[in-house]
Amino acid sequence: MNNNDLTASLLNFLDASPTPLHAVQNMASSLDSAGFELLDEASEWTLQPRRGYYTIRGGSSIVAFTTAEQTPMTTGIRMVGAHTDSPCLKIKPRPEKLKSEYFQLGVEVYGGVLLNPWFDRDLSIAGQTSYLDAVNRIHTALIDFQEPIAVIPSLAIHLDRDVNNSRSINPQQQLPIILSRSGDDGENDLRKVLLDKLKENHPEQEIISVLDFDLSLYDTQPAQIIGIRHEFIASARLDNLVSCFTGLRALTDCNSELPCLLVCNDHEEVGSQSAIGAQGPFLRSILQRWCGSVQGCDQAVHRSILISADNAHAIHPNFPDKHDSNHGPLLNKGPVIKVNHNQRYATNSVTSSIYRNMCDKKGIPVQVFVSRSDMACGSTIGPLTAGELGVQTLDLGIPQFAMHSIRELCGADDVDYLYRSLIEFFNVETLF
Ligand code: CO
Repeated sequence: MNNNDLTASLLNFLDASPTPLHAVQNMASSLDSAGFELLDEASEWTLQPRRGYYTIRGGSSIVAFTTAEQTPMTTGIRMVGAHTDSPCLKIKPRPEKLKSEYFQLGVEVYGGVLLNPWFDRDLSIAGQTSYLDAVNRIHTALIDFQEPIAVIPSLAIHLDRDVNNSRSINPQQQLPIILSRSGDDGENDLRKVLLDKLKENHPEQEIISVLDFDLSLYDTQPAQIIGIRHEFIASARLDNLVSCFTGLRALTDCNSELPCLLVCNDHEEVGSQSAIGAQGPFLRSILQRWCGSVQGCDQAVHRSILISADNAHAIHPNFPDKHDSNHGPLLNKGPVIKVNHNQRYATNSVTSSIYRNMCDKKGIPVQVFVSRSDMACGSTIGPLTAGELGVQTLDLGIPQFAMHSIRELCGADDVDYLYRSLIEFFNVETLF
């Protein structure tokens, strides 16, 4: 597999994954194709050696792992973690608004959204809906309108002459999306729109009514290779679907003889504390089942390393003073080790040395990031998973611009570097 094929598959994955639910569904179908077996958390598990398994919680968090001849207690587990969610606008439970004869929907801001880039985009809606059939059974199905059906138009500069100096955005008043002019027939009801779409998607079922939904807005502009040298990838959700995709491909391509695992959690962008988030019990529960006991799990964890993969901030040529001048990662110059001694990142000098050594042997460049001493630092699932499990962790990620914008930018070579380094990690004989 060369770099171009990897990039093309990544672009397809990004376009097909407008929400964490869709991302996990797509990851599951890749795992099915690679011969992994789906495990139900509500059933008892009997795991065989040298097999691939995966399980899904809440539809939007997934753990996939490969068993080996040796147990995790003897070899440890090579673990990679990432997050499936990205900041976005979600539709409110009773969203309908009729203002100035427009049919609009109110939105809730999910995570740390960079709001300005959401204006003047050709938006669509995706997520899941739960509905009732004719015999009073509840079904839940993914939904994706795919077409551009909504927009948040900017206010013209003529109506706000100061906009380029002092615009701030009130999400309650200024972000409701426009779906249409309001119909005279009174059909300004999102549930009716969803019901029609569900009937179209599931003609075999008699669908009576839509009970509830979890829907997000997204940009219909597809992911794209850009730049005069075709070296950049522009897309929504690069943070952090790049790491989910790359971790998955590395896991299914590595042919490792050792126990390996990929965990991709939802809810990172809102703090990770949930039944399916990195600060919840999902991963530990799987490790205990795999290892057979609490003691076995702890034994395995102490021989393991987690690489928490989440994108890093590249130094922006127009804003160079936002970085420490010795720690300004560049696009296409390799994955970035993220350091913060206040434990916003879980990297320590042992885990970073192991990774550097692996990359040096394969000629993969590595960069390092620490934030300016006078600026606050972001965080990710690394320190939270480390805190839950007690596992030695490396926080790592490819560099990108415009984090949390609706259109982010990263380097195509970095995806390949990350992929190759994770394959190396899954195959490395001895960790410590
Ligand atoms: Co992230």
